Amino acid sequence: MTRQKDVHQRADELASGSLERWAYDYVTTTSLTHKLAPGPAPEPSSDRRPPALHELRPGRPAELTITWDKFKAPKSAAALREPARRAHLLHTFLHHELQAAELMCWAIVAFPDAPCAFKKGLAAICLDEIRHMRAYQAHIERLGFALGAFPVRDWFWERTPAARSALSFVALMGLGFEAGNLDHTQRFAAMFREAGDERGAVLQEVVGAEEERHVAFAAHWFRAFSGGLDFASWCAALPPPLSPMVMRGQPLARAARLRAGLDSDFLDELEAWQPESRGS
Ligand SMILES: [Fe+2]
Ligand SMILES: [Fe+2]
Repeated sequence: MTRQKDVHQRADELASGSLERWAYDYVTTTSLTHKLAPGPAPEPSSDRRPPALHELRPGRPAELTITWDKFKAPKSAAALREPARRAHLLHTFLHHELQAAELMCWAIVAFPDAPCAFKKGLAAICLDEIRHMRAYQAHIERLGFALGAFPVRDWFWERTPAARSALSFVALMGLGFEAGNLDHTQRFAAMFREAGDERGAVLQEVVGAEEERHVAFAAHWFRAFSGGLDFASWCAALPPPLSPMVMRGQPLARAARLRAGLDSDFLDELEAWQPESRGS
């Protein structure tokens, strides 16, 4: 509680009209309208060093019911024949997008010493995630449900703030979770198609294709921050106890991951990785 108060007191130093103020407002707002449409992001500036707000956590709109329960994703197309199951799954994806948008903003204020070009890229990705969120909202509504109709879990917020540097953030978020999403969107697109929801299938494909840019952004900055990118250096940059296990789907979307800038050695090692191979 005290730490949260500290973080908001320090946020008073954020300049009005700055990118950092915009990012702070997006994370903390409890307005669903603001979460869906924050307006354009200001240009970053290096004129003055803003405070580091690593402890910042998100505001939650009253429309969202938060749960700690694990969500069990449908494993087959048969389970997706019911519109309510599809709407629930898409609502889970929508909340992933919201958390991704918020976490891009969190990184802007958590790592104030990062280059302006990096922060500008994070803001652009944030706006992509919000577009994805709205696309999911539209399809959920087509299926007869509203945003807020299903409980949501802050799974990414439970994990990502363990990243203590911009390098660790891109390792976890971009090369970890978003890269895993390249695998997941292809698998779910096939399931939606088989269940007879072509529009839902195309939505998965569009989101997956756009996520390639986010993974490429992370690969670029991982190399810029550390001088190179291979499987061992990526694993070393992940904040413990997170492991590659939650960052890959079955099967790997190899072509999409290659397009995003990962090489085939990296993908071979990712595919072969087992918990015990860490030697712990
Ligand atoms: Fe997204
Ligand atoms: Fe993304």
